[in-house]
Amino acid sequence: MNKRDATVFLVVKSSCGERVHEFLKQNAWLDRTVAPIEAAERSVGFPVSDLVGEQEVAEAVAATLGIDAEIVRQPTVRRPPVNPHERLKAAVSSWFASHLPQCNPEPFVPKKWERLGELALLPYALKETGEWEEVSRHEHASLLWKAVAAALGVSSLGLQAPIANDLYRSAQVCMLLGSPLVKFIDHGITYTFDASKVMFSSGNITERRRIAGMDMAEEVVIDAYAGVGYYTFPMLVHAGAKHVHACEINPASISGLETGAEANGISHRLTLHPGDNVKTLARLKGQADRCHLGLLPSSELAWEGCLMALKPSGGVLHIHMNVEEEKIERWVKATVRRFEKLVAEHGLGFSIEAQHVERVKWFAPRVRHVVLDLSLRP
Ligand SMILES: C[S@@+](CC[C@H](N)C(=O)[O-])C[C@H]1O[C@@H](n2cnc3c(N)ncnc32)[C@H](O)[C@@H]1O
Repeated sequence: MNKRDATVFLVVKSSCGERVHEFLKQNAWLDRTVAPIEAAERSVGFPVSDLVGEQEVAEAVAATLGIDAEIVRQPTVRRPPVNPHERLKAAVSSWFASHLPQCNPEPFVPKKWERLGELALLPYALKETGEWEEVSRHEHASLLWKAVAAALGVSSLGLQAPIANDLYRSAQVCMLLGSPLVKFIDHGITYTFDASKVMFSSGNITERRRIAGMDMAEEVVIDAYAGVGYYTFPMLVHAGAKHVHACEINPASISGLETGAEANGISHRLTLHPGDNVKTLARLKGQADRCHLGLLPSSELAWEGCLMALKPSGGVLHIHMNVEEEKIERWVKATVRRFEKLVAEHGLGFSIEAQHVERVKWFAPRVRHVVLDLSLRP
């Protein structure tokens, strides 16, 4: 047996195991890719790294700890990799080796994927590889998807396409295995929806946490673009909003809002307003302390409706927008001027202050997703 096929174990009495294990770890002499073995007569064997001589290690253990060790060689059995990327690589390589040995498996080992509960979404780039047709039509393609799902610890698998540029900002998921219905907990909140029909912006996590951290006790809040509750639920559960009115046009998202509200036990503090918010906001005139306007690239169509929905005591608007980095300041000033004009037109008598600009993420090169917190008070 050569050194690669065999592992050297340092076998000691189990009662000394903990001390020897600690000593090997401290000296970086433990081979962490192989599991320890249970040897005969209450003894345990620790795998010794290839990088050190076994005699040298046994002598050091005897001299430092006063413990006698026996050296045993066994065929190498590596532990399955703990890192999901390593597991994915191993699963994909093994499928290609058995089913398409002439193809390069590398493009099928993505560096990133999105996980929504039991569903993992792989990047759309996979579909653009030269091998996609051959792989996806292979009679044993399902074995590949099953192996990938197992490596990622999920039961369903899909390919994520760019978010559709439609009114709903629909998700465009191509399912490879299992079901697109997802349920998962994020920041203590349950979300549940059909991932093939609605988007979930996991990338906006910092903004969701920022909104969740605000104090909205006693406030009536409008979420003008509620989706499946990305902001609606944190505002109710963490920020303590008294009531949220959620406007949403996509029936699939409305269904996610309903099931999510039930799962989080907050249905009694939530009113859904299905349909176009240009119409539904008109029914909420003068009722809100705060409005959330979370649509990209722009939420401008709801600005006037949200302004009119504020109580006579005024409130705060959280306005999402994609803005070129060097134009952010100019955009803030222009937005304040635009609201001053609307306030004057409607005789609302609010004074306006740009309280904060949050840079959420890069949307495209040089283009930022920003949120402007605008305060409007009498
Ligand atoms: C970006 S998505 C989800 C928004 C969520 N606030 C976020 O940032 O993750 C925007 C949502 O607004 C909804 N929507 C778009 N236009 C709408 C409109 N005119 N009235 C009501 N909802 C609308 C879409 O269906 C979608 O669910």
